[in-house]
Amino acid sequence: MTIEKKTDCAHMANITGWSHRLCAEVLNPGDLAIDLTAGNGNDTLHLAQCTAAQASGCVIGFDIQRCALNASAALLTAHDFPVCIHTEATATDVHPSSQVRPDTGVHLFHCGHQYLEHHLPRAPKDIIGNLGYLPGASHTITTNVLTSIRAAEQGLAALLPQGRLLLVVYPGHPAGYDEAHALIQLFAELPKQRWDSINISCTNAAKAPFLLGAERRR
Ligand SMILES: C[S@@+](CC[C@H](N)C(=O)[O-])C[C@H]1O[C@@H](n2cnc3c(N)ncnc32)[C@H](O)[C@@H]1O
Repeated sequence: MTIEKKTDCAHMANITGWSHRLCAEVLNPGDLAIDLTAGNGNDTLHLAQCTAAQASGCVIGFDIQRCALNASAALLTAHDFPVCIHTEATATDVHPSSQVRPDTGVHLFHCGHQYLEHHLPRAPKDIIGNLGYLPGASHTITTNVLTSIRAAEQGLAALLPQGRLLLVVYPGHPAGYDEAHALIQLFAELPKQRWDSINISCTNAAKAPFLLGAERRR
């Protein structure tokens, strides 16, 4: 089977394109990949293609908005990736009795990514998070500094060697500004003997989104 690895880095300042390219570099069919923010499903679809989630791989996605999960499921299904949606008691809570740890296919959780560790069946090779708000929906429903830091810390703790955590950060709105500063600090303080950490940003656009990446060295 030929696996299509979509890399839409069409122009240099396309930050999500960079995140897709850096995912595709490390992911292989059969891997587990995580999308911290499913949104409209574009990143989830890319991970599904890179891991061959219709066969051997697994993608687990999170979002606190049901409309986002529905949009993601529609996109994935249109590309022949069956999707299972799991609903927690509330989107901002998780109950031990409802913990599900799927191991193949595409699984979307109506649940905050701060509960990532409750749903990991094994160590992931890649974790992606496109932060901020859902395009076309309310701009008041957005990722925030506390839950993003929790998800990032859990993700870093879980990654396989050579695994990557890739976060697209939007500093141009108030919640994103705080989030950006806290995440830059988290990535900057990763110990060099265990992590490589990068920041890809536009040097001539101060409030433009940027990409933080961390790769586990061993
Ligand atoms: C920029 S959008 C994601 C775009 C998406 N990755 C795509 O490819 O279309 C950010 C998403 O994060 C979601 N979100 C906000 N807080 C969250 C949380 N604590 N856990 C999971 N998702 C969250 C929002 O509902 C929104 O859909």
